[in-house]
Amino acid sequence: MTNTGLAKYLAKRFAHVDSSVNRSEAPRSRDSLPVGALWELTAQGRHGMTMFYPAWSLLYYTIRCRLMPDSEGLLIETGTNRGMTSLVIEQARLDLGADKLRLLTFEIDRQNIKAARVNWKSADLGQQIEIVPGNTLETIPQHVNEPVPFAFIDSCHETNHVLAEVELLLPWVIKAKGLLYFDNTNSGNAAAGRALDILVERHGGDLIHFPNCSITTPGNSIWAPQA
Ligand SMILES: C[S@@+](CC[C@H](N)C(=O)[O-])C[C@H]1O[C@@H](n2cnc3c(N)ncnc32)[C@H](O)[C@@H]1O
Repeated sequence: MTNTGLAKYLAKRFAHVDSSVNRSEAPRSRDSLPVGALWELTAQGRHGMTMFYPAWSLLYYTIRCRLMPDSEGLLIETGTNRGMTSLVIEQARLDLGADKLRLLTFEIDRQNIKAARVNWKSADLGQQIEIVPGNTLETIPQHVNEPVPFAFIDSCHETNHVLAEVELLLPWVIKAKGLLYFDNTNSGNAAAGRALDILVERHGGDLIHFPNCSITTPGNSIWAPQA
C-alpha cells in the first residue's frame, strides 16, 4: 500500500523553503518516502527537533528492508518530540503493508505530544500511531508486552537512561529477532555511544555505526542483539 500523506504534508509545510536549494541533487526514491522534501527540510535549518535527512532515509529503509509484510508486534520509538520521525516509521510500515504491526511512541512532554498530534493530523498519517505519555522507564513496562521487531531509541540520551530503556525492551526485541536503532551516537564522548559499548560488553551482538548523518551529536547506530 502506498500513502503519500507525508510527502503532501512536507510539501505544504515547507513550501516557503529557499528556492536556491538544488533540487536536482536530491536522490530519487521509488518508495513513498519523500526524499526530495526531506532534503529541502534539511537545508532550511538544523536544530534538535528531529534527526533530518539522510538519517530518516536510513531508518526508513532499515524498517522497509528488514521487516516483512507479515511481521507482527510493536514498532517502538522512545522520544516522540514533534512526531517527525514517527511519520517516517509509520510511512515505512504502510509501504511495507505490515498491518499486523503497530507504532507505539513514548513522550514525557505534554506540549510535544500536542504538537506531534497536530503534525500527524496535517500529514493525514497518524491515525494508527499510539502515543504513550510519561517517563519511558515507567511506561515501557506498562505498555510493551508483545514482540518488538524494531525500536528507535531517541528520548533522553544519558548513558544510564539509554541502557535502562534497552534493558526494558530487550526481552521483547529478542523474541522478535529484532533490531535496535539509536540516534546521537557519534564520537568517543557521546553518552548514547558509550551506552552502546556497554551493551556490547554485556550482551554481545552486532553493532554498526553510521557516523555521517543526524545532527547535534550526529551519528546513528544499529544493534542486533544475539538471538
Ligand atoms: C531528540 S527528541 C526526539 C526526536 C524524535 N524521535 C524525532 O526524531 O523526530 C527527544 C524527546 O524525548 C523526550 N524525552 C526525554 N526524556 C524522556 C523520558 N524519560 N521519557 C519519555 N520521553 C522523554 C523529550 O521530551 C524529547 O521530546
